[in-house]
Amino acid sequence: MTQVIEKLNELKQQIEEKIAAAKASSEVEDLRVKMLGRKGEMTLLLKNLGSLPAEARKEMGKKANEVRDFVQEKIESARVRLELEAQNNALKSEVMDVTLPGRRKPQGRLHPITNTFSRLEDLFVNLGFDIVDGPHIETVYHNFDALNAPHNHPSRDEADTFYINDNLVLRPHTSPVQIRTMETRKPPIRIVAPGQVFRRDEIDATHTPVFHQMEGLVIDKGITFGDLKGMLEIIVKYVFGEKANIRLRPSHFPFTEPSAEVDITCYVCGSGKSDCRVCKGSGWVELWGCGMVHPEVLKKSGIDPDEYSGYAFGIGIDRITSALHGLSDPRLYFENDVQFLNQFKGA
Ligand code: PHE
Repeated sequence: MTQVIEKLNELKQQIEEKIAAAKASSEVEDLRVKMLGRKGEMTLLLKNLGSLPAEARKEMGKKANEVRDFVQEKIESARVRLELEAQNNALKSEVMDVTLPGRRKPQGRLHPITNTFSRLEDLFVNLGFDIVDGPHIETVYHNFDALNAPHNHPSRDEADTFYINDNLVLRPHTSPVQIRTMETRKPPIRIVAPGQVFRRDEIDATHTPVFHQMEGLVIDKGITFGDLKGMLEIIVKYVFGEKANIRLRPSHFPFTEPSAEVDITCYVCGSGKSDCRVCKGSGWVELWGCGMVHPEVLKKSGIDPDEYSGYAFGIGIDRITSALHGLSDPRLYFENDVQFLNQFKGA
């Protein structure tokens, strides 16, 4: 019996020492398992009391329960103390200085080309145009045949247009959207079709194989070249300001007759300085093509040219974006140079 008492006292002392030395609540937990767990030393000792005579068992049981309660309480309070300590240490090491200035998140912004598109879309929506979309992969029919391009037209050449197969191309202009619109809508028609176009051009200071256009198409009764010119003036003055002037130069497109190139007064030198790198001394900068919709094109799309007439234009978005920002190299639009793009904050 004294042996048991001794053993109990010994355990009690051991536990007190170990608890005092414990540095983490996990150590205390290990100790609890070792002493009070299913196979713990205290548990086994208590179990063995069963073999003692009744009188002794009672006394020993009391003593053993006392020791067990004592141990339990010690363990519990050590666990609470160590957890608190750990929490305090964590708080101390994670102190933050709320007076430090914040770190700014870099903010993205719209690409200058996107900005030009949306400015123009605003204008056209206000003028009563619908904005329509067309596929990048276009049929040869919509891109050439229905646009009245003769079979030997140079733009049909594989050297100029990306062919996917005999019937499909990557559209080299947005004009096929004119055809798609006339196929699905009846006049009066007023649409613009913004988007990317693709040509087999080598990349240099004035060419990129991907660029952007915004096609315009207006068809109604009694539309004249005067309406076209008026609309071009509205667009150019809206984009470049009241002082900008346009000039129309005769040109040729298979799908318009008559056709013209729209030039604006040079946005760099203004007057045609002989060393101007943009207008090369002429005082004018070529912007985009336009014309009256060819009667053949109307006919092919089921619109009677005796009843309706119309005009079309294909705004060169990259050109006017460069003109607006005084840039001469369209490659910059594709290089994703953040320093370059950052200059267009809110532009
Ligand atoms: N599609 C022509 C081009 O890409 C531009 C254009 C559009 C000309 C509409 C006339 C009418 O060069």
